[in-house]
Amino acid sequence: MVRSLAAVAAAAAVKVAAQTSTTTSEFPFPTDGLPTYNGTGPTMLRFGCHQLVIDRIDPLVAPGQVPSHHQHQIVGGDAFAATMPSSDISALSSCTTCSYSEDFSNYWTANLYFRARNGTYKRVPQIPNYSDIFTNDPFISQTNGGMTVYYVSPGQNQVTAFPPGFRMFVGDATLRSPPDSPWDLSTQTCFRCFTGPDFEGDMLRPCLDPAVDTMHLPNKPCWGIRANVLFPTCWDGVNLDSPDHKSHVAYPVEGPHVFDGIGTAEECPSTHPVKIPQVMLEVIWDTTPFNDPDEWPEDGSQPFVLSTGDPTGYSQHADYIFGWKKDSLQVAMEAGCFMANCPGLAVQSVEQAAQCAVSELAGDVYDGWLTELPGNPAQPTVSTTTSSAAEPTPTGKGKGKGDDGKGKHGKRKAKRWSS
Ligand SMILES: *[C@@H]1O[C@H](CO)[C@@H](O)[C@H](O)[C@H]1NC(C)=O
Ligand SMILES: *[C@@H]1O[C@H](CO)[C@@H](O)[C@H](O)[C@H]1NC(C)=O
Ligand SMILES: *[C@@H]1O[C@H](CO)[C@@H](O)[C@H](O)[C@H]1NC(C)=O
Repeated sequence: MVRSLAAVAAAAAVKVAAQTSTTTSEFPFPTDGLPTYNGTGPTMLRFGCHQLVIDRIDPLVAPGQVPSHHQHQIVGGDAFAATMPSSDISALSSCTTCSYSEDFSNYWTANLYFRARNGTYKRVPQIPNYSDIFTNDPFISQTNGGMTVYYVSPGQNQVTAFPPGFRMFVGDATLRSPPDSPWDLSTQTCFRCFTGPDFEGDMLRPCLDPAVDTMHLPNKPCWGIRANVLFPTCWDGVNLDSPDHKSHVAYPVEGPHVFDGIGTAEECPSTHPVKIPQVMLEVIWDTTPFNDPDEWPEDGSQPFVLSTGDPTGYSQHADYIFGWKKDSLQVAMEAGCFMANCPGLAVQSVEQAAQCAVSELAGDVYDGWLTELPGNPAQPTVSTTTSSAAEPTPTGKGKGKGDDGKGKHGKRKAKRWSS
């Protein structure tokens, strides 16, 4: 049975919100309390984007560098380049890979590679496949790699859509252990380990099911792995970017907003008073061709590695460059829309979106068996302290549901390779 992930998410979400509505039995999950996306209620856009390109460039963190430190997979508008101006990129784009055709934003994350026992690597293919039984979205299940993008607003006049030139980053590509944070960031980045075919085990909202979600890469074979990365939901209201690409945005005072499909922040801190839409990216990898136990490491660790060179998964991160045309995102945030149908927003066909592409610049060979990861990315310095006795007592920071806070590589202490 193929479930609609976000629908499940929304259903579970609103159970929490304890609203009421009628129950429909045709859906393979509880629908008690599903919100009314009726034009005045919350908006949850959920839409597919084909892959635009796989490349070792990063206009946000390493502008102008070709190639940059590690490889990404990118979706969105074709203005994507090694250097991108802080102006309205929708005006520089002629097409987008996303189903909402006014969204010329760029979104990117790391790729996933499998490392065989003989030490060679193979890129793990991304799959799009899950149907959307609520809105019969024909696009989302047919994307060519790429990802699913979500935008959430709690209702009318509650969030401020990003201005042209806005960009942000979440995560830390140098991490090899749980983040040192006062917040429980396991609700903001996680890997879901599907327990059977057709996304089995996908019952609860992203990053909130300890049975299948971990902040580190799963340490057992899965029927596919799904990554979710959520961006902060408060903004200083002034700066389009900041030197670390993070400090102009912040989490609400009550902590990072979990994905519930209906809300973003109760209260933003006074330093970052502006509530912005909650953006979440979702990537699914088909790991099933790589589940042969004879190819898994003999020491009991797991064989997947992010394109950062990270075998833990803690370096998961995501980049966003806003590029919706004119006020289209604000209009959508006010519209009480659900999934890929939003009156007032233009859409394009899956075929049309697939024609949008840009050329790879780094010149990497990245398919087939590789003797090293693209760019053979330098790794952060790892301290020599490996005795658990010498480790500080875990404080619970960065720890939470679905994550034991350590994982296979929890004893490693990461340091930055720069700064
Ligand atoms: C729309 O939904 C919201 C809750 O999501 C509810 O408060 C409001 O009354 C609904 N409006 C109409 C016209 O049904
Ligand atoms: C390494 O292992 C993989 C997986 O078994 C295999 O397909 C590949 O041919 C091997 N490469 C070499 C150079 O032995
Ligand atoms: C996607 O789903 C369809 C229908 O369920 C199936 O035939 C197809 O093999 C799936 N594709 C992938 C890549 O899983």
